[in-house]
Amino acid sequence: MKQFIKFEEKGLARELIETAIRFKANPLINQEKGKGKRIGLIFLNPSLRTRVSTQIAASNLGIESVVLNMDKETWALEMKDGAIMNKNTVEHIKDAAAVLGSYFDLLAIRAFPTLSDKTEDISDFTLHQFIKYANVPVVSLESAIRHPLQSLADMMTIQENLNGKKKPKVVLTWAPHIKAIPHAVANSFSEWALGCGHELSITHPEGYELDEGFTKGATVEYDQAKALKDADFVYVKNWSAFQSYGKIIHVDEPWLLTEEKLKQSPDAKVMHCLPVRRNLELSDEILDGKRSLVQQQAKNRIFAAQSVLDKIIS
Ligand code: CP
Repeated sequence: MKQFIKFEEKGLARELIETAIRFKANPLINQEKGKGKRIGLIFLNPSLRTRVSTQIAASNLGIESVVLNMDKETWALEMKDGAIMNKNTVEHIKDAAAVLGSYFDLLAIRAFPTLSDKTEDISDFTLHQFIKYANVPVVSLESAIRHPLQSLADMMTIQENLNGKKKPKVVLTWAPHIKAIPHAVANSFSEWALGCGHELSITHPEGYELDEGFTKGATVEYDQAKALKDADFVYVKNWSAFQSYGKIIHVDEPWLLTEEKLKQSPDAKVMHCLPVRRNLELSDEILDGKRSLVQQQAKNRIFAAQSVLDKIIS
């Protein structure tokens, strides 16, 4: 595996999940494997879980990691090829990525979308500019359109909580938010859940349809109560509109997930990638209650990342 930027195929996903579960039981089993290797963790946007879990994952494999907060600590990057750099950007991605590629054995990058330039975002422009010029394997730490390390941890968490169920009902439910939020987590969750063979229902207010390229095979249901009925896993996430790109569409119905709404789903476990705005996206009663898998998901981020790094250096 030379890159980890999206779901590739079911067999590989299964292998990565199984390896992640093995690492969780014995995190230091391959602690010598990455000795002498270095990974650069490049952040163009903020992060808590992805930054720390990937550093721990690297450390568990003996890989040295260096974190670079490109948004604050380095030169302002020009991403567009052929640009005349007579404005605010100081260094071209062609030069910066090549330099970083010569310093590190692997690079990992977080690059959020603009949420204003749809064409640029859906081409995952920044991630691919890094890949083009880095000349070393690249791991996505969340791109404009996908968050594969989160989804791998999410699939691992579902696997750990199946309780013998062969065909769980998985529901992705939209949640309210005050800001325009990227589609990456929702896109990737859909891509991985469907790719792993889960039955997926996506529920959201009209106007919040995701890019069909990620949701083909899922049931889209505008009635949240109907979608939630008999659910085994309920993934809560906000995203901004995709058609009216990056916009927040006013919604009259209350979409906050509450215990009351899960009365018809007694066994439902609730998931969220975090960070979460409590009592806006998800109620305290659910986040602090028995249904919540959010802490398990966050912990599993370490082993998902470890599984990916282990595969790349193998
Ligand atoms: N879930 C997630 O990616 O968290 P961070 O943005 O804090 O890394």
